[in-house]
Amino acid sequence: MSAQRFTGRTALITGAGSGIGRALALAFAAEGANVVVAGRTRSALEETVALVEEAGGVAVARVADVTDAAGVDALVRGAVERFGSLDVAVNNAGIIRAGRSLADTDPADWQAVMDTNLTGLFLALRAEIRQMRAQPGGGTIVNVASNLGAHAQKPGVTAYSASKAAVASLTRGAALEHIGDGVRINSVSPGVTRTAMSLLPGESEEGRAARMKEQSPLGRAVTTAEVARAVLYLASDDAAPVVGADLVIDGGTTL
Ligand code: NAI
Repeated sequence: MSAQRFTGRTALITGAGSGIGRALALAFAAEGANVVVAGRTRSALEETVALVEEAGGVAVARVADVTDAAGVDALVRGAVERFGSLDVAVNNAGIIRAGRSLADTDPADWQAVMDTNLTGLFLALRAEIRQMRAQPGGGTIVNVASNLGAHAQKPGVTAYSASKAAVASLTRGAALEHIGDGVRINSVSPGVTRTAMSLLPGESEEGRAARMKEQSPLGRAVTTAEVARAVLYLASDDAAPVVGADLVIDGGTTL
């Protein structure tokens, strides 16, 4: 039997209707957490909940857009009403707009990326910290950044990179400000991970595998389950002294 590091704890995952967020919901539930599966599309969230339940776990779906401050506050409140506390949060919701150099970037695309990846994360983080610092056990938060940003650049994704570099910076600042409140905050910076987001226009999964064989010292893309395991470590008591860190999970791509 695997370790049960999150038994009786409540874990909130944003962007949990697909990709890394869905893997996170499954991984936290497998280790005993009550999972709040949040995102914009109810049907996708319910699919995640069904997968968690099939595996014997506990999860509820909550529709919430991270760019909506009142909605995010209500999301946190609802999680506490349902399960009694908010012990873990993973701010995973994110979008990418790729393909144009900075000079050709439409301000609307820039704004959309910043609204979700940076402001949305700020709003969620703020609501989560406010809850966690007010409850006896405190809490722990992991933000999903990217190796594109604080660790590397690539043409065509500069707005996305800037938003993700800011996530790492926001993580350090918030971690410093709130560790004394019993709230421990870190981030992860995955490299190319096997989700729809990392496919280039028109690229197949086989095409991505061939690309990563060339580009990654490890020779392959990262799996969603691998990102989830790293997040669970950071959220667990095993990482008690790890504060404000940004864990790169990219097979050595940015070394
Ligand atoms: P994904 O597109 O499957 O997941 C992103 C999720 O966020 C989706 O379910 C989407 O509906 C949700 N979302 C987007 N805007 C939202 C909003 N305003 N409110 C609530 N939910 C919203 O892609 P993936 O790959 O699972 O991405 C998860 C996170 O990992 C993102 O932050 C992404 O930037 C990051 N990441 C992904 C990498 C990859 O190679 N796939 C590499 C590095 C970081």
